Amino acid sequence: MQKNKKLISNLKFLLSLAYKQDPVLLWLYFATTILGVIFMFAVFFGFKLLIDAIAPTSPSPLFPAIVILTTYLLFEYLSRFVYYTVNNYYISYVFRSKMQNTLTIEVMKKVSNLDLAQIEDGKIRNLITKVFDTYNWTLPEIINTLNYIVYNTASILLSLLIATRFNPSQFLLVAVAVAPLFYLRAKYGDAEWSMYGVKSPRANQLWYLRGLFYENNILTEMKLYGFSNYILSRMSRLQTEILNAYVSPIAKYTLHSVVLSILIPIALFIPLKSYINPAQSGHTIGDFTLLLNVLFSFSTQLSNMLVNVGNLYKNNLYLNDFISLLSIKSALTMPKKPVIFKTITPRKIVFDNVTFTYPGSKKPAVKDVSFIIEKGENVAIVGENGAGKTTLIKLLLRFYDPDEGAIYIDGVNLKELDIGNWYRHIGMLFQHFGRYYFTLEENVALGNVLYPKDKSKISAALLQADAASITKELPKGLKNVLGKRFEEGQDLSTGQWQKVAIARALYRSAPYLILDEPTANIDASAEAKIFDNLIKQYKNKSLLFISHRFSTVRHADNIIVLHKSQVEAIGSHADLIKQGGLYNKFFSLQKRGFE
Ligand SMILES: Nc1ncnc2c1ncn2[C@@H]1O[C@H](COP(=O)(O)OP(=O)(O)O)[C@@H](O)[C@H]1O
Ligand SMILES: [Mg+2]
Repeated sequence: MQKNKKLISNLKFLLSLAYKQDPVLLWLYFATTILGVIFMFAVFFGFKLLIDAIAPTSPSPLFPAIVILTTYLLFEYLSRFVYYTVNNYYISYVFRSKMQNTLTIEVMKKVSNLDLAQIEDGKIRNLITKVFDTYNWTLPEIINTLNYIVYNTASILLSLLIATRFNPSQFLLVAVAVAPLFYLRAKYGDAEWSMYGVKSPRANQLWYLRGLFYENNILTEMKLYGFSNYILSRMSRLQTEILNAYVSPIAKYTLHSVVLSILIPIALFIPLKSYINPAQSGHTIGDFTLLLNVLFSFSTQLSNMLVNVGNLYKNNLYLNDFISLLSIKSALTMPKKPVIFKTITPRKIVFDNVTFTYPGSKKPAVKDVSFIIEKGENVAIVGENGAGKTTLIKLLLRFYDPDEGAIYIDGVNLKELDIGNWYRHIGMLFQHFGRYYFTLEENVALGNVLYPKDKSKISAALLQADAASITKELPKGLKNVLGKRFEEGQDLSTGQWQKVAIARALYRSAPYLILDEPTANIDASAEAKIFDNLIKQYKNKSLLFISHRFSTVRHADNIIVLHKSQVEAIGSHADLIKQGGLYNKFFSLQKRGFE
């Protein structure tokens, strides 16, 4: 029962999407189906009239046979034309394509609006992957199936209407003969449908393995280490397991339904037999053909309906996933009356006893962290891998809310700020930055879509990021497409891609520039150049950066030293060296490396 309710409400949701997209098309879709069925029954009836008109034993017909023949052929044409050509071919095709477009936009819009915490959540990631892999073909298929069910239902109803001319109990007999198939379908259908759920861990593994072949860096390692066969054989093992789980119940179902289907011709035999002799039954030969056609249609449409309803339940599992994804709500509560800063300038940032533990994790990633960043200060964050540096940035960007303590921007709790307004203050280079297979110019301009593309600003950003030479190297300069994905594209080295990402952050010309390990892929001289430029430019702005290179870190106004989720010390380079703590230790170790 629960399942039926869910199916109905899910279908309503999908239909309302289809309706919003194009109400006329949706109506036309179902209307042409019903019209097609009406024409088909007109053909059945026309055939009866035609036979009666030409049979030697018939009483003189209502219309001349030639008129009946012409009309019969016309309806034959109309029924084909409306249902097969217009409905099944044209409308179905246009509808499917439009639906795919609508669904794609809905899904992408939703995913781009998820919280970062949700994107990092394994369960939600799985859901996203499942929906991405299936929505495109399963969901339009559901509407298609609904259309078939409309066809089945209209045919069954018209058959029953015609049954009143004959003996309706004979139609009931046919319905009884089809009934065991309903039972069979319900029994095996369930096994088949639940497999989607039961096998989904395997299906997830298979999807994951398949995804490996999409990634360049993995394909490279695969080649070098030669482990592609290892992965392929794991994939084919999973495929066999999944297939076997499906095949055996389906084989059983097929066998049982072949055996039980014998009841249908038996049930057809009984009514038809009583009309074999027209003299006895009081019906004409034409009546016999009508009954034959309608009974056949009745039994076929009943059992087809069964298959279609089964398909509906099966595809409803995909629809369920789709709707679950669309109904994920943000875990962060947005303020009712958000504070909006009128100007976009540097502000005072205060971390006040901030503690945060990632969902599902036992250990806090940052614990009792307090520090102040004054307006326009350049600050470096240092610490070992896993110390909590990136987490601090994620909290500052409100990807997560602290569990304890608070973050204040010019005295306003970050939770009270309009997040879009706050983001306009920030240019950011993530540790895992984006590479867009667009033109070089677009790669930079994406940093500020509010600006009209400004060539001189783009060039200036590239220059500051020490990336001017990239423009020169590319045959089409700023207009050159990057990456190997498209024919005209030119790939860059990782370091060059990173410089482009820095240029993108700079193009935003925001009062804060946050760089998370910006120099991981860049050589020391390029780094020195970039930081010289940045520090010059960021005189009245704030540069927050995470780095392991002390040659850069030492120039910061303040350095926050993180150790195992906590602040170990804060101060200038000179202060920290004097204090002789962790910072001094790391600094001397690195210095020794250069001596
Ligand atoms: N999305 C996440 N979910 C759970 N734990 C995480 C997540 N991201 C980071 N962590 C954990 O939080 C701690 C701090 O990570 P992070 O801030 O990325 O360190 P780093 O100082 O290297 O930037 C680490 O123990 C890390 O494993
Ligand atoms: Mg990090």
